[in-house]
Amino acid sequence: MLEIRGLSITPPLLLAPMAGLTHSAFRTLLLRLGGVGLLSTEMLSARRLPMENAVISPFLVSTEAEHPLSYQLLVADNVHLARAIDRVHELKGDAIDLNLGCPAPKVRQFGGGSKLVDDMDSLRQLVAEARAHTALPLTAKIRLGEELNESSLRNLCRMLEGEGIDLLTVHARLRKEPFIRKPRWEWVGKVKNWLTIPVVANGGIFSVDDGRRCLERSGADGLMLGRGAAMRPWLFHELASELYGLDLPRLEIDRPACYFFFISQLEERFRPERRLGRLKEFTHYFSMTYPFGLRLASAVQSSGSMQEARERATVFFARS
Ligand SMILES: Cc1cc2nc3c(=O)[nH]c(=O)nc-3n(C[C@H](O)[C@H](O)[C@H](O)COP(=O)(O)O)c2cc1C
Repeated sequence: MLEIRGLSITPPLLLAPMAGLTHSAFRTLLLRLGGVGLLSTEMLSARRLPMENAVISPFLVSTEAEHPLSYQLLVADNVHLARAIDRVHELKGDAIDLNLGCPAPKVRQFGGGSKLVDDMDSLRQLVAEARAHTALPLTAKIRLGEELNESSLRNLCRMLEGEGIDLLTVHARLRKEPFIRKPRWEWVGKVKNWLTIPVVANGGIFSVDDGRRCLERSGADGLMLGRGAAMRPWLFHELASELYGLDLPRLEIDRPACYFFFISQLEERFRPERRLGRLKEFTHYFSMTYPFGLRLASAVQSSGSMQEARERATVFFARS
């Protein structure tokens, strides 16, 4: 349905890169439930990536099953770019995504994420260099900009396409807009009309209805899910069957089973000190599907060990 440089993204449902969330354990849970077309890492510092130990780094640990997998690079300049891309090649990544949208002050301070779009000439060089250095699908993820301005957004998007970006994901919010603000899906539609490469819509998709409305409003070639995937890991499955007609095995949603499977994957993949923080991060979102989910979130949040978190979650599920 969506193909970029020989990589088929079927269905066109992509996992959003999310720091602390989109690691091997979470990706494995999503694969088990089905319906995801392209997996992602969290943003990976291009400077540190070449030095990370792929056997133990929670950012890089990954299994044979986790494909297709896109590696998102957080890069500030050309200095570390080539070595970071080489590392993705060694790791057998299926695609490389450039983070051009992160609004976090820390990231902007060192010149990365959304800061990159402030200097179009340097960004153009960076993208050209990345393009010259890899034959993998090269994608980019942006927000709508500082303010609603069609001409600057159009210039940015056309420049990215012109320099060889294969697919563009648009998080439909301005740089400073918080997640509670309604996403501007119709602006993804504007971007779609300016470009010939596939455009993927991101932001505020928490249900099949959201996905349907987003596609209607944006005409996007695909959807990228972030928090919705952590809240309802089975949402990919639902969207794949209901919006894209994929014939997937019937899904019985068993929330405690999902949760405990996720814990088992954390325990299989990560060293003990790397597990609890990731469980807390996931629980923050996963608990939102329960009417009294805050109780689960705070019970796990205040747990001192995986064992304690598991016991408290067991009590919560038994009562829910
Ligand atoms: C906890 C968290 C971590 C995130 N980390 C990243 C990241 O590493 N790279 C990135 O491009 N965006 C990151 N984002 C933004 C998401 O990829 C996505 O654009 C945003 O959450 C909007 O989509 P959603 O409404 O489906 O969650 C992060 C968002 C959250 C909530």
